Amino acid sequence: MNVAKILPIVLAIVAFPHAENAFAQEQIVPRPVQITIEEKMSPIVLGAGTCIVMQTENPKFLAEAKKLSAALSAGTGLKIRCVKNAPEAGTHIFIRRETALNANGDAAYKIVADEKGISISAAEPIGVFYAAQSLFQMLPTPFFDAGASKAKMRWIVAEKPFEIFDFPRFSWRGVHLDEARHFFGVETVKRVIDQMAVLKMNTLHWHLTDDVGWRIEIKKYPRLTEIGSKRKDTEIGTWNSGKSSGKPHSGFYTQEQIKTIVAYAAARHITIVPEIEMPGHAGAASVAYPWLSLKPPAEVPTTFTLNTAFDPTSEKTYKFLSDVLDEVAALFPGKILHVGGDEVRYNEQWKNQPKIDAFMKKNRIKSFGDLHLYFSNRLSKIVAKKGKRMMGWNEIFGGADVNNDGAGKTEGSLDKDAVIHFWKGDAELAKRAIRAGHDIVNSTHNFTYLDYNYGKISLEKAYNFEPIWAGLEEKYHKHVLGTGCQMWTEWVPSQDRLDYQMFPRVVAYAEVGWTQKKRKDFEDFKRRIKTQCERMDAQGIKYAREAVPANDA
Ligand code: ACM
Repeated sequence: MNVAKILPIVLAIVAFPHAENAFAQEQIVPRPVQITIEEKMSPIVLGAGTCIVMQTENPKFLAEAKKLSAALSAGTGLKIRCVKNAPEAGTHIFIRRETALNANGDAAYKIVADEKGISISAAEPIGVFYAAQSLFQMLPTPFFDAGASKAKMRWIVAEKPFEIFDFPRFSWRGVHLDEARHFFGVETVKRVIDQMAVLKMNTLHWHLTDDVGWRIEIKKYPRLTEIGSKRKDTEIGTWNSGKSSGKPHSGFYTQEQIKTIVAYAAARHITIVPEIEMPGHAGAASVAYPWLSLKPPAEVPTTFTLNTAFDPTSEKTYKFLSDVLDEVAALFPGKILHVGGDEVRYNEQWKNQPKIDAFMKKNRIKSFGDLHLYFSNRLSKIVAKKGKRMMGWNEIFGGADVNNDGAGKTEGSLDKDAVIHFWKGDAELAKRAIRAGHDIVNSTHNFTYLDYNYGKISLEKAYNFEPIWAGLEEKYHKHVLGTGCQMWTEWVPSQDRLDYQMFPRVVAYAEVGWTQKKRKDFEDFKRRIKTQCERMDAQGIKYAREAVPANDA
């Protein structure tokens, strides 16, 4: 951030010494860049006469205004219409296009509110959407409660005139959801998307295939879901517990359902990045089509320890993956396809396999790490042909045997266009990948894994996660696209458990991704998380109550 950007913030704090009062403006998560509050009582209240007044003809802004109208009307019980000209009476919401805000990126927005009304400015429609989320969080909590009686409410936005200027720190503000281990279904995914939207998160990383389940309909290979989406039983408790649910588990998304979810997310400015796991975690696919693997399991595993890898020496494997990714690419309009790439279990899957030995000898490939690089580079080309960019967990980069798995020394290098999803290994490995020219998303496991319990990753630890590695030269910072938090679901069989593991930590991760480093302050967040918990209560989110810090005495 340069001085020109910081200066207005500093000036604002000097000019408005009481700018940080605990008023509605100060309840917003993630915390905005700049909030200024005038020192005069002049409540801003939405009422029966409130309208949304369009001060731009741009149809995409009108589409945002209509969403705002629908959300405000549903949340307040008022009928808040979009109009071209402001009626005389009432506190109105004005929507303007201000292209100069683009200096801080597409998502920047400004809200200026006083007795004359609430003015929302943005360069792009997404800025209007984010301004709306901030506005919603300023309203009394029953706004978020569909079952609350709205009639007698006073829909106060703020006691005093104010200005908010805001834009995100990172472009990748992700939540990952593993539906291979447990399948939740359309309504739960929409619920996650709703929470992400309120928190201005923009990337849903959807883990759709793994050893224990294949969850996406692929028309060319129907057995993937006919066979691969069902298992007889499920291990419960923890790894190697010896206990199981005793119940079959199954489920998958039809392509029509996926289209619905993609559209639902897009309306909330959320891109879905699908993850199709390869070459490891390929058990379910290899049960359906045993020729995909050198060691296909006989049935979809019921425990979470068995890991199957695709055969990287077979042209049939690449043809299959290309066909699958054709259908996936057509369903997901985002630019990135995630191909997994983690935990291949080289020693178990590729060692002592004559076909692998012969292939490596013929192609002068000296280590399994390099064989994995060969696989990833082929996939990167396949993905590029579909007009997309490949992303994978950091094992695709090579350079270290992070799973102590027999990768060996790697000599090759990964296609520079590949995005690295960093989860495991030391900081030097991450920095090496960035300096080699890769964009990277920081999901370091011991800071961002939502399956870890709250003893291991507390709300404070989650909040204090810093996505830019210490010692990374400034010129490379732009290659750190942002951060994701990962909801692996081996031990998460229900929506209630999902809520518990995700929340309130996802709120902290939202602030990690959005809020400027200088504006991050856990003490302040501790105050704001309480209001967000009230909002989550209003929406029936069963967050981990004990993870919310108690009020200080
Ligand atoms: C991972 O947690 N295996 C990416």
